[in-house]
Amino acid sequence: MKTRVVPINPRRPAARAIAQGAALLRAGELVAFPTETVYGLGADALRPEAVQKIFQVKGRPLDNPLIVHIADRDHLRQLARKVPPAAFTLTDRFWPGPLTLVLPRSAAIPPEVTGGLETVAVRMPAHPVALALIRESGVPVAAPSANRSGRPSPTTAAHVLRDLGGRIPLILDGGPTEIGVESTVLDLTGPTPVLLRPGGVTLEELQAVVGPVDLKPVEGFRRRSPGTRYRHYRPRARTVLVLGSRPGLAQEVVEAHQAAGKKVGLIHRGRHLRATSSSVLVKVLPKDIAGYARGLFAALRALDDAGVDIIVVEGVSEQGLGLAVMDRLRRAASEVVGGT
Ligand code: TXA
Ligand code: MG
Repeated sequence: MKTRVVPINPRRPAARAIAQGAALLRAGELVAFPTETVYGLGADALRPEAVQKIFQVKGRPLDNPLIVHIADRDHLRQLARKVPPAAFTLTDRFWPGPLTLVLPRSAAIPPEVTGGLETVAVRMPAHPVALALIRESGVPVAAPSANRSGRPSPTTAAHVLRDLGGRIPLILDGGPTEIGVESTVLDLTGPTPVLLRPGGVTLEELQAVVGPVDLKPVEGFRRRSPGTRYRHYRPRARTVLVLGSRPGLAQEVVEAHQAAGKKVGLIHRGRHLRATSSSVLVKVLPKDIAGYARGLFAALRALDDAGVDIIVVEGVSEQGLGLAVMDRLRRAASEVVGGT
């Protein structure tokens, strides 16, 4: 299959490109599109055979459920059997945006979407291209991140093409995504909201709106969020996460691996970096956490594509967006050094 990459203005998407994407979705085909978090791989959520293609193309385990994307907040009622008051409080405040709510599913949702669970994850994205595509297609759009399963989520159309080129008909290229980590997934099926995945809406922001939020993996957690059991964001290279504030620790780790003859890449936060040997590939990310989150997956991919054996990456504080960043880094890492 030939994959077409169609450029599209991220703020004012051209009707023609949107119409092409919507026609494919209505025909049961897959379309990759930008959201404010990462690129998604969309299918008509109401057509089981379209949804099955997502799992085939990504190489995704069938029991890992998909997020259903809507463009109109009122459509939540058609997808969820029960919508608690907290859901409306949250959607008023955070939709459209990077918050996914897990609710009891309605009979409208095919079991393929939810991996057989009795719950459904729903989000209304904030990206104009995503919203226009969903609206024009006239259907709820099931969409995981548009990467091959186990790879970092794509933040550019080029990342999507590299992972899924030849397997899908269309990528809408709206440029790099704004947030860079995926949406926050919040389970509202119990008495207290449970944070299943930290993401673009921070824990602090959620707590300010709904009060206490459970973090700890509770009884049955794995069953409730099957995705968290898989090793996500796993670069091909071995990834070493460096924690703690001791200056120079990351560099020591780099030098030790170099001494052992490894090709090493370093993801460094934009503060003082001692000169490294020229054979180290260094990706410098902004010091501010929003900039760090925006660039992280691209940096992991770039080092991987450069063929390094080891990626050394410095951890961040777990405040705000830092909680989502550290979640992804811990999943990517095969080794953690330093810290308390
Ligand atoms: O930002 C995002 O959320 C992106 C964009 C494309 O919207 N999508 C995304 O989808 O990250 P995906 O499939 O890569 O991650 C969805 C996560 C998985 O961890 C999955 O297990 C969880 O949401 N999930 C989906 N449905 C669920 C459900 N019914 N109960 C619990 N967890 C669910
Ligand atoms: Mg994903």
